[in-house]
This record gives sequence, structure tokens and C-alpha cells, in this order.
Amino acid sequence: MSLDLTAAPPSAPATADDGVWLACIECGETFAPFSAIRYTCDHCDGLLEVRYADPPTFEDFEGRGVWRYAAALPFEEGVSLPEGDTPLHHVPRLEADVGVDRLRIKHEGMNPTGSFKDRGMTVGVRVAKELGVGRLACASTGNTSAALAAYGARGGMGTLVLLPAGKVAAGKIAQAALHDARILEVDGNFDDCLDIVQDLAARGEVYLLNSLNPFRLEGQKTIGLEILEEFRQDHGTYPDRIVLPVGNAGNTSALYKCFRELVQSGALDPEDVPKLTGVQAEGAAPMVEAIEEGNDEIRRWPDVETIATAIRIGNPVNAPKALPGIRETGGTAVAVPDEEITDAQRALAAEGVGVEPASATSIAGLRRLRDRGVVDDDEQVVCLTTGHLLKDPDAAFAAGNDPEPVPNDTEAVLAHIAE
Ligand code: F0G
Repeated sequence: MSLDLTAAPPSAPATADDGVWLACIECGETFAPFSAIRYTCDHCDGLLEVRYADPPTFEDFEGRGVWRYAAALPFEEGVSLPEGDTPLHHVPRLEADVGVDRLRIKHEGMNPTGSFKDRGMTVGVRVAKELGVGRLACASTGNTSAALAAYGARGGMGTLVLLPAGKVAAGKIAQAALHDARILEVDGNFDDCLDIVQDLAARGEVYLLNSLNPFRLEGQKTIGLEILEEFRQDHGTYPDRIVLPVGNAGNTSALYKCFRELVQSGALDPEDVPKLTGVQAEGAAPMVEAIEEGNDEIRRWPDVETIATAIRIGNPVNAPKALPGIRETGGTAVAVPDEEITDAQRALAAEGVGVEPASATSIAGLRRLRDRGVVDDDEQVVCLTTGHLLKDPDAAFAAGNDPEPVPNDTEAVLAHIAE
């Protein structure tokens, strides 16, 4: 199977352009990367993956942010704000409370538009320019639409976003609105929105920048590269495990691809690859179901619900790439109830790290896996927090303290705080 962790490096087919090509992960067919617009395989409709004749080593990287990793990407530079270079926080109290040897938080909420989506968009919008397309579009639970609107604006391109009506957090719609996206609110869920925008893309109306687009995942690989480099610099080793929220399973696929390419170049020992551990909300957990039942395919959940609206997704399109990633790295997947997500959001906030609910699932999932003894107390773990607290102000108000009205008078304020 082509997605094995230790598969031999591929050799460039005749279709390659400067050592870069697209390959179908199902049938192996290859395509030139930029000669035509395609999102899936012409022959079998399988997912496509970007491949390189020369996979990168750590010595190839220089500079900062996503484009530090140009040697792992199809271009030298992109439409940039700039993005990446996010903090890897120490959280000593939470580390002790969860009970692992080391816990670090990779806070992707610190990207320009407040989520990891910026890493994918800097590459995706660059590719859109290469292809000469007009209008950019996505379906979104919110963050993709915010990133697409900002990067589209930066690149001088029009953007169209399809959102599930009433299910997108306020901060994200505000971003899409101000960055001048045309916002369509669909009477359906995210998966319905994605079906529609795929139809629009197939009819040539728009260029699709959901994570079905293989170039988006190239940018998101840089999360893994940053984690490996910084963790090794700080601790002289690589993390045993990376725990991350799962929606469409784009990040899970991108991290796995990052590790595979480093293994192919000889830069990373297969033994050192972190265990990819995905977390979903109980009300939207088709990936967890597939892992627990040992299925190779996902059952689409028609009805999904969770406070973590960013991952309110019933049909993770990247599952064929992500399931091998979880299995081949020795990882797992776990579902968490909304109350535990909110508790984890508060626990991160108590360390000064403000995240939106979907992001807190990584900590909630880690706690569950510690309780079940799946994660050992001697493990070194990185949890990914994918989006900033301000993305979802309503969830923050609901989880946090209520403001207390007081009179406009010092004595009255003193009396109030003494209560
Ligand atoms: N966390 C946040 C904050 C997200 O916005 C998303 C996805 C995920 C996790 C899941 O990541 O899809 O790579 O597994 N948000 C998409 C959007 C669907 O439209 O903003 P994944």
C-alpha cells in the first residue's frame, strides 16, 4: 500500500514538473501538478497526494514560519501574511494534572487569522495563482472560511464561502465578512455544504480550497515539522505522541505525510515517529467509530452535534489518508463528551492558553486515554490546539466567569469584592 510508513521513496513519473507530481492514493495514477485543475483521481475518484522526487531533510530548512519548509513544499514562497512559527507552550500544572512525563501545547490559534488553516491557505492560494483560476471557494465550519477570505484578499482574488446556517461561531463569520468573502448560509450541515461546493468546483464555477485539495495539506505538514524541530531542540528527543482534534482529518493526514516524507529521506527513524492520536466530539465521531471497529471506510453520520462546532462533521473526507496514519504510527482515536471539552478549555485557560472548544478536545482526549491506561505516565506528549479563544466568544462566555455589575463608586466596589 502506498501509504505505508516505510514505503520506498517514489521515483518521478514523466508527468512530474520539477520533481513534483500528483498521485492517486488508491490506484497510483499520476498527474502533472499544475497543468489542469483536479481534486481527485480522473480514473477512480480516489484522493490525490502531492509527491516529490526529493523528500526533505532537516538540513534543507532555513528562515521562519511555513516557508522555512519550502524544501518540503511545491513552491519557494506563497501568498503570505506570514503564518506558522506558533508557540509550543509549557503547561506545568496541566502536565502534572494529566499525569504524563512531558506535555507541550502547540497553539495553532496564534496564526494570522487565528487557526492552522492559514498554513494550508498560503500554499493553496499560491497554487490557485499558478493555475490562473478566478474565484476561490470553500465549505466551512468557520475557520477555513476566515482563512480563505483573508488569503484571497491578500492575493487579490474573490472568495465564496458556504457555511452551515446557525452553526458557525461569531468570530469566524466576522472575519469572513470583513475580508470581503461572499457568505452563503446553507440550510444544512457542513457535509452538505461540502457536497454543494464540490459540485460548483466540478462545474468550473470555483476553485475548491477545502482540505480535499491536496495542496492545502502540504502547508499543514509544517505543523509537524515545527513540532519535531522545536521539541528536539528543547528536549533532545521527539515526542512519543501527538494528540489532535479531528474534523475532516486533514491535519491527521498532513502530519502523517510529513513523517512519511522524513522517513523516506532518512531524516527520521520510523521508530521515532510520534503516535498520531485523533480526538472527536462524541456527537460527531465517525473516525473514532472506524478506528474502534477496525473499518477501512467511514460510515457517514447524517446527524452530528457538539459544542465544538469547528469539528461538527459527519463525513471526514480525508479518512482514507488519515486512518492509515493513525494505524501505522501506533496511535488511536477517542471521543469525548461536550462537558469534558469545556472542562479542558477551562484547564488550558488556567495556564493562560485561550482556545476555542474544538481545540480543547485534544486535552480532553488525552485525559480520557490516561484514565483508560492507553497513554502511559512516562510519555512525552504534544497536544495541538487548532483555534484561538476569540473565534468563539459565545462559548468562552458560557465557560467562563460572568461579569458582575457594580455601582460607579469605589466604596461600593470595595464592598462588592469583599463579599
Ligand atoms: N480544529 C479547528 C479549530 C477547526 O476549525 C477544524 C476544522 C479542525 C480542528 C479539524 O481539522 O479537518 O483537519 O481534521 N475546521 C474546518 C473548517 C472544517 O471549515 O474550518 P481537520
